Amino acid sequence: MRTAAGFMALLAGLFLALPALAQTGDADRGEDVYLGRCVLCHGEEGDGLGPAAERLNPPPRDFTSGQYKIKTTAFNDVVPNDADFIRMIRDGMPGTAMPAWSDALSEQDIKDVVAYIKTFAELEEEKPTAQVDYGTRVESSPESIARGDKVFHDGDRCSECHGREGKGDAVKKLKDDNGDRTWPRNLTKPWTFRASNAPEDVFARISVGIPSTQMPSFADPKSKKKLSIEDRWHVANYVASLAKTEKVARPGNTVVTAARIDGALPDRPDDPAWERGRPSTFFLVPQIIAKERLFTPTNDTVTVRALYNEREIGIHLEWDDRTKSIPGDPAAEKIAEGTMGEDAVAIQFPVEMPAGMEKPYFLMGDAAKPVTLWRWSGGTTEKQESVTLFNARGIDEKEDRDIAKAGLTAKGDYKDGTWRVAMKRPLRTAETDMDLQFEEGRFIPIAFAIWDGSNAEQGTKHTLTTWYWLSLTPPAGQKPIVAAIAVTLLGGGLFFWWGWSAPRRRADAED
Ligand code: HEC
Ligand code: HEC
Repeated sequence: MRTAAGFMALLAGLFLALPALAQTGDADRGEDVYLGRCVLCHGEEGDGLGPAAERLNPPPRDFTSGQYKIKTTAFNDVVPNDADFIRMIRDGMPGTAMPAWSDALSEQDIKDVVAYIKTFAELEEEKPTAQVDYGTRVESSPESIARGDKVFHDGDRCSECHGREGKGDAVKKLKDDNGDRTWPRNLTKPWTFRASNAPEDVFARISVGIPSTQMPSFADPKSKKKLSIEDRWHVANYVASLAKTEKVARPGNTVVTAARIDGALPDRPDDPAWERGRPSTFFLVPQIIAKERLFTPTNDTVTVRALYNEREIGIHLEWDDRTKSIPGDPAAEKIAEGTMGEDAVAIQFPVEMPAGMEKPYFLMGDAAKPVTLWRWSGGTTEKQESVTLFNARGIDEKEDRDIAKAGLTAKGDYKDGTWRVAMKRPLRTAETDMDLQFEEGRFIPIAFAIWDGSNAEQGTKHTLTTWYWLSLTPPAGQKPIVAAIAVTLLGGGLFFWWGWSAPRRRADAED
């Protein structure tokens, strides 16, 4: 009897103790996790000054400040819920160096490290007192989205920072509480959100604000722009509706398929006729191979379309850039970092059609396999937009060419946080040994580079892609080579991995 009762008591005790153990973390155990995994960025003292911190933008959180960006406790409550901490640590923070730890740490490890992190700002005894009030959820509908659109733009409530179309095109320079530069989120790219664009997440961000940044709370009764719960749901539904799916870089898609059209190619970059070409979006990564390197890029993807007719090829490039960089323009100078250059884009091709799948070195070619570059720049207050043409056999071996001889033209247009640039050239040129001669039904290597002038990107400081492929869709009957597609997928997959796994890779490096 006694043993049975004892056993039952023990079992009951276990059942009671287990959830209790699972609910609160152990700060001592958490310290070990922290020293093993987090100090590199967040620093031994929790002040965000770890050895890797210097080059990171946004910088790692300073836990001694006690400020957290993503929380679901009320705007005037300092401490986040444990669930908020756990989510950010488990899932990471997209668009920053903060890795997702779900593979490397157990739930218990995460709870323990949360308990430890809290000690840096002496939050361990603090309990959240008030939660975000979600009221009655308003489901998304065309009416709700239209209402949210109005709320977003009324009195420039959200558009003041997020821009007319939500692309975060800056009208002013925003700093966080530490004086570091912050950028209003591009709401059309939800995959860059720290949390997500699910309406309940956006509702929480609008209600709480993003502490330590200039993203305000719209639930604060003292705010002149305060919103009712219902209006916050409408605007959340509107934000969720802004996602631009054609701007998602898909790992499987490594080919720009040029569509053949009858008649003239469109001239203006904002001509809707470009939409006849299927969009392909590629990741831009900072150039960190050759000096001068870029560590803090602002542009993240480029979307490419192409059209051709019997005479010409046209390539249309579209990328979100928060700042139109016009050197000499006082308003542009005011929001720029460092010395402003022109915004620019370059398309790179090999000079010769490669035999098989061989490509020149992706960073401006090499001695054996030269490349040719078409480069458009946005102009300054003194000079118009311009296009240049040059060939290269490596980063220091450039040869300027005559655009008129090659027949290269380009036009750009900036609107609401997006650059659109259209470049055109005849399929065949006179200088056959200097210019790529385009052929139908072949896979042609193509790569891109982009400069954000307001981010002090000039010369070798820019973002770029690896080689992708351009294919001039042959008339029905001719089939592209299947092997080419296979190689393509491989190459593109690798680069995709580079782009998306940067945060994850840092976590792995510590394993
Ligand atoms: C490679 C660098 C790096 C490592 C390693 C790293 N972090 Fe971070 N962490 C960051 C950056 C950068 C931010 C700030 C992101 C932002 O402000 O948007 C951040 C933010 C955070 C936040 C703030 C969340 C919020 O809502 O504000 C928490 C909590 C956090 N990290 C916990 C951890 C823990 C725990 C570890 C170790 C298990 C860790 N981090 C490891 C870079 C890192
Ligand atoms: C004064 C400028 C300002 C205003 C006004 C503003 N925001 Fe923001 N918002 C920001 C900044 C800055 C960030 C990025 C903060 C950071 O660095 O993490 C941001 C981030 C966001 C995010 C990203 C959340 C995430 O998970 O990453 C959303 C969504 C958002 N804002 C929605 C809105 C909506 C909707 C409104 C109007 C109701 C609004 N904002 C008004 C400056 C502003």
